[in-house]
Parts: sequence; structure tokens; C-alpha cells
Amino acid sequence: MYSRIVGTGGYLPENVMTNADLEKIVETSDDWITERTGIKQRHIAVEGETTCDIAEKAARQAIEAADLKPQDIDLIIVATTTPDRIFPSTACLLQARLDIHGCAAFDVQAVCTGFVYALSIAEKFIRTGSATRALVVGAETTSRILDWTDRSTCVLFGDGAGAVVLAPSEEAGILSTHLHADGQYSDLLTVPEGVSQGFDKMKAGEAYIQMQGNEVFKMAVNTLGRIVDETLTANNLEKSDIDWLIPHQANIRIIKATARKLNMSMDQVVVTVDHHGNTSAASIPLALDVAVRDGRIKRGETLLLEAFGGGFTWGSALLKY
Ligand code: UT7
Repeated sequence: MYSRIVGTGGYLPENVMTNADLEKIVETSDDWITERTGIKQRHIAVEGETTCDIAEKAARQAIEAADLKPQDIDLIIVATTTPDRIFPSTACLLQARLDIHGCAAFDVQAVCTGFVYALSIAEKFIRTGSATRALVVGAETTSRILDWTDRSTCVLFGDGAGAVVLAPSEEAGILSTHLHADGQYSDLLTVPEGVSQGFDKMKAGEAYIQMQGNEVFKMAVNTLGRIVDETLTANNLEKSDIDWLIPHQANIRIIKATARKLNMSMDQVVVTVDHHGNTSAASIPLALDVAVRDGRIKRGETLLLEAFGGGFTWGSALLKY
């Protein structure tokens, strides 16, 4: 028995911020952002628009694409680093919005690798018979933890939500998932504030992403290269067996490095970083949804999903769509 993706959905806030808009806020340029990151624009939630709001839109779309009703869902996992509340989890808030009652619902916090973590957990629930229809969402309002005076971070991120529904299948679906973390690098990419630290910066609205970009970049390229090898070896596959790479969308240069490692042409890589920026846990399900809806990804094709982010966390999933 496999677990298989039977529906995808995505949602981006309507409000778009271009590189030209950012030029008016910090000392930067469209040329610098485009050349160093590949980003041209990102979507930013408007005041009052929360992670649960955008998660709900992506979730409803995925459930509809699966030809199901919300009440068919019996497991909800939301990957997010920007929850609406400290508690209840965004998954519980989403459950109430969808008028679903009683099934397990919880959040997963693995920053940019969050969706791969959540998918891996849901896959095991389905495969062991603990759930039959799992809703897995990656949703972020990362703009809320950006320092809009820090040009080294505020140009990189965007808001959005992506979702999939997993169901049991005798046909091949998710073939393997690979999760890793190494907390010794926690200070290289962090929002160094939280409830048990006193919450002072949070209360002052000053809890922001801090990143040693260059260090993170080098670690990301090397680590993603290794996880590609690990995933192929575990499945006894060659690089040429992969039809599509669906990478976390942090930087086009990191994505190109992973594609090179796989000897893949960029035509086989789903790229959304230009239009979405880095949407953290939402970036992979959003990219998947874009390429499913525009007809690029077809049933039966082999997809490699991979991500790297704060923690550090990193992971991959190999699946037959
Ligand atoms: O999603 C989680 C994982 N995150 C990532 O994978 C992000 C990884 N890191 C990166 O993508 C890249 O390191 C960045 C895009 C963040 C930065 O690119 P870089 O090529 O590593 O640039 P840098 O940090 O080495 O900075 C180069 C220069 C600096 O100026 P000096 O010191 O050389 O004079 C920066 O001050 O670029 C400057 N700079 C900017 N200039 C214009 C930094 N940000 C900007 C900016 N506009 N927005």
C-alpha cells in the first residue's frame, strides 16, 4: 500500500510587491535582487490576512481537486513557522474553518523544510492505515517576521500557501522520504525570540528573521547535493529516472546547482521563485500545484522534492505523481 497525492491546491495573497517597490523602501535594485536570487516579485498578505486565511484557500482547492468534501479528511497537518496563534495550532484553526470535527490536526515546525516533514508524517499515517485522507498544507505569512529595513533579508521572502491531499493507493505514490536536522547551526538562520525567552521583541513587533546568507547558501548547496544522492541510492535509481525536480524556492542559484548535480535541464525543474520569492514551507506545494495545473506534471511521472532551511533542517521526498 502506498500513499498517493490525489489533489493539489495553492493560494497567493492578491497584494504583489515588485523589486521596484522594494527599491523605494531599502537601498537595493532590481538588478541586484534578480541577479543574486532570481526573484522579481513576491506576494505579501495585507493587514489582517493570516496564515490560516491563506491555508484555507489552498486547502479547499486541494480537496476539490481530489474530488472530495472537507468532511472526508481524517488528518490535517499544517507546516508553518508563522502560525496565527501560539496555540491552538493553525491546523486546529483550519479544521474549524473547514467544518471538520474530531480528526487529528497538528502543526509541524521545520521552517523551509516543513512541508517535506509534514508530507513524510502524513505518508506514514496513510500507509499504516491510521488515516485515509490526509490534508497536508504548507502556509506562511513570513512577511510578518521580516525587518523591512534590512535589505539582506526583506527582499527574499513572500507569503503563500500550498496544499495536497494524500490517499491510500495500490499504485505507486510516495516512494521514500528523507528527513534531517542539525541544531548546531541554529544561529545562522533564525528569529531569535520566543515565548520562553520573555517575548519582549515579539511584543514590540521586532522579532525578525536574521540570516548569515552566505553561510546558509554554501551549506544549502552542499547539503542538497548530498540528499539527492541519498534519495537516488535509497530507491536504486539513476539521475535520469527523475522527470521533475520540485525544489524549495529560496534562490535560483541554489536551484540551478541542484539541477546541475542531477544533470537535469532547467526545463525539468519547476521554478516559481521569480514570482513567489521564498515562501518557506509553502514553496514546494505551491510549485507542485502550479506545474500540475499548467499540465507540465502528469500522472505516473517521477518527482523529486527537496528543501533546506532554518534549524538547519533538510529533507527530500521521491514520489510517483
Ligand atoms: O530558505 C531557507 C534557506 N535560505 C537560503 O537558502 C538563502 C541562502 N542565501 C542566499 O540566497 C544568498 O546568500 C543571498 C541572496 C541572501 C545573498 O547573496 P550573496 O551573493 O551571498 O550576497 P552577500 O550576502 O555576500 O552580499 C554581497 C553584497 C554585500 O555588500 P558588500 O559587503 O559586498 O559591499 C551586501 O551588503 O550585497 C549586498 N547586499 C545587497 N545589495 C543590494 C545584500 N543585500 C542586498 C540587497 N540589495 N538587497
